[in-house]
Amino acid sequence: MVIDPIIKEDWHPVANSKDVKLGILYAANLLGEDLVIWRGEDGIRAWRDQCPHRGSKLSLGEIRDCDKVVCPYHGWQFDSEGICVEMPAHPGRDIPARARVTVFSVAEKYGLVWVCVGTPKRDLLHFHGVDQDYKLVVSGPYDIETSAPRAVENFLDLAHFPFVHSGYLGEEPFTQMEEYEVDFVGEEIHINNAKAYQPRANASSDAPLKVTYSYKIIRPFSVMLTKEPSTSDLKPSDLILMVNQPMYEDRTRVWFVLAMNYGFDKPDKYFQDFQDTIFLQDKAVLESQSPKLLPLELAAELHQPSDKSSVAYRKWLKSIGLSFGVQLCQEGR
Ligand code: FES
Ligand SMILES: [Fe+2]
Repeated sequence: MVIDPIIKEDWHPVANSKDVKLGILYAANLLGEDLVIWRGEDGIRAWRDQCPHRGSKLSLGEIRDCDKVVCPYHGWQFDSEGICVEMPAHPGRDIPARARVTVFSVAEKYGLVWVCVGTPKRDLLHFHGVDQDYKLVVSGPYDIETSAPRAVENFLDLAHFPFVHSGYLGEEPFTQMEEYEVDFVGEEIHINNAKAYQPRANASSDAPLKVTYSYKIIRPFSVMLTKEPSTSDLKPSDLILMVNQPMYEDRTRVWFVLAMNYGFDKPDKYFQDFQDTIFLQDKAVLESQSPKLLPLELAAELHQPSDKSSVAYRKWLKSIGLSFGVQLCQEGR
């Protein structure tokens, strides 16, 4: 799998921080790379999930003495830097310098564990929700058999609400889309004033609302959404960070960080259940799309005026030279 540097040198989510508990080895995949993630006493680690001896998965092994990983096959032990410090079949013998695990850059932010499998060229993204007094909840992961750009495009698409999310984010006959704004701002795309009539806009909604959506596409596979009820002067009710863990070009794990200015007394599950319902509605349609890689040649699919945001997204991906998860030219051409 060829991975362009734009993706390889960026950070991607790989786990919910809460799931990487002390003493466990957590297996994940990012860009075709099997990872083992674990938490030592002095921080989190992300390694290639492959023992340098015979290639077995370290994630099937165990953590010993809080800061050593033991391979399940012949018991080689690796310290927190990934260096082999013990070969039980040959105690006392010199250990070759090459007996070490490949180590990746790892960080924790917004309740997620982030990994870069290349040399990080950018800082971890910034989610505006945490600047304010919001409740943060991680939702997901949601595994889908499609590319990350198809998933992003679905997140930007409001015209599907009355059909895919009927009774929640939309409803017939309220299908007509109003004009909205799309601007290229620096290295981002900003989408403003997209309106949707929503019978049930969020987990705590008890009456239909006309909601205004604003998006910032901040990285190829990362989008921030602000939802504002247009009839009130309240702060935006929901800020949602949608980030993707691209495993393969056509297999993606989707994560959301939800930031709310309500429901402080509610358990996380209250918000996660709503998001689960919505995403499950999206999944079948998303996985049915063909091709799974997002076609960047505009003539490859048809566009209606409300697709302005996805057309901009496709143009932008093409302009930055992205090749992962996209189809650059129509097959057979
Ligand atoms: S494969 Fe890991 S110790 Fe042999
Ligand atoms: Fe949807």
